[in-house]
Amino acid sequence: MKLWIAVAVALSPLVSAAIFPKDSHVKMLDAKGFREAMKKNETSLVAFVAPWCGHCQRMAPEYSKAAVGLHPLIPTYAVDCDADKNKKLCANQDVKGFPTVKLFPRGKSLPPMLYEQERTASGFYHFATRRVPKAFTKLSQVGEIASWVGKHETKHRALLLTKDKKVPLLWQVLANKYSNTALEFGTHRDKKGTSSAAMGLEAGGKTESKVLLYPAGSPTPIRYDGLTKLDSLSKFFDSVLDGTADLEAQLERANKKAEKAEKVEEKVKEESEEKEASEEEKEVAGEGEEKVETTKKAVEKKEGECVESCEAPPPTMGVPDSVPADADDLEKILKDSGFDDGQPEPAPAAEQKERPKDEL
Ligand SMILES: *[C@@H]1O[C@H](CO)[C@@H](O)[C@H](O)[C@H]1NC(C)=O
Repeated sequence: MKLWIAVAVALSPLVSAAIFPKDSHVKMLDAKGFREAMKKNETSLVAFVAPWCGHCQRMAPEYSKAAVGLHPLIPTYAVDCDADKNKKLCANQDVKGFPTVKLFPRGKSLPPMLYEQERTASGFYHFATRRVPKAFTKLSQVGEIASWVGKHETKHRALLLTKDKKVPLLWQVLANKYSNTALEFGTHRDKKGTSSAAMGLEAGGKTESKVLLYPAGSPTPIRYDGLTKLDSLSKFFDSVLDGTADLEAQLERANKKAEKAEKVEEKVKEESEEKEASEEEKEVAGEGEEKVETTKKAVEKKEGECVESCEAPPPTMGVPDSVPADADDLEKILKDSGFDDGQPEPAPAAEQKERPKDEL
């Protein structure tokens, strides 16, 4: 009799609370939460579990660990299929055994992919990060930028200039998230800053990323100057889409600067033509050495001014320096985020300085 009570207690719902620890990045969803999560069009990972299932309990620490590495770019969820209110959802999702893990590449708008590999943290992590749909255009040559900008003229266009070889996961995630909106995403690798220079922007530090926004209809970009993190960039893009971003004023400044640069250039050109003309005259007349000197000086002075103002970048919104990281390695990310995997191993100072995963 006593034994039966013990078994009954062990099987009671009290056990269920423990499958994912409270401080886990794994968010429990019910049917409503699931619907809402799917509506966001984000790539997300969902584990359908039952608290009494041993495989689920063994998977939980690995899944939680993956969630730390994926946070906040790829949300990780779990659904308790043992709860009555979730049974319909689990049946609709064709859950026949526990655990069933599925990746939803773009919420409900693309069919889910069943996870059938080993249930390890790095397995989950790489499965998810490699399956974010590619919703951006990769512009390999700087010359391709102008035609891309022109081709999508009626949309807002967000362009990332990055020194990294790999398109940062954050940019992939953003492009995917906004793929059904009036925002078009592009990326260009500007390894040495030469493309930036060709576009009238400063080359920037060794690792600097730049986010440019071409407002709908404009061939001129403005430069985003906020934090290059998921939250800040999402807020900015939301404000671009709902019209609350003050793009007009920024664009006006950018255009004025470009115009001014053009005007000074023209003036310098005119004056040097005048100079040539007057030198010719002088050669003919053989007089007025002093006057030539004066004109020359004036031109030089103008040119001196031009160096400072003509070549200034049209839109000045500085992106804070960030450090590069080809952070695809889950272990490294976990270490950086202070994830305790039971093996205390302080990261070297140099490694700690590296850019976090969720930053461009
Ligand atoms: C998600 O995508 C659908 C089209 O597939 C679109 O109608 C909806 O507005 C998008 N939702 C968000 C939050 O972007």
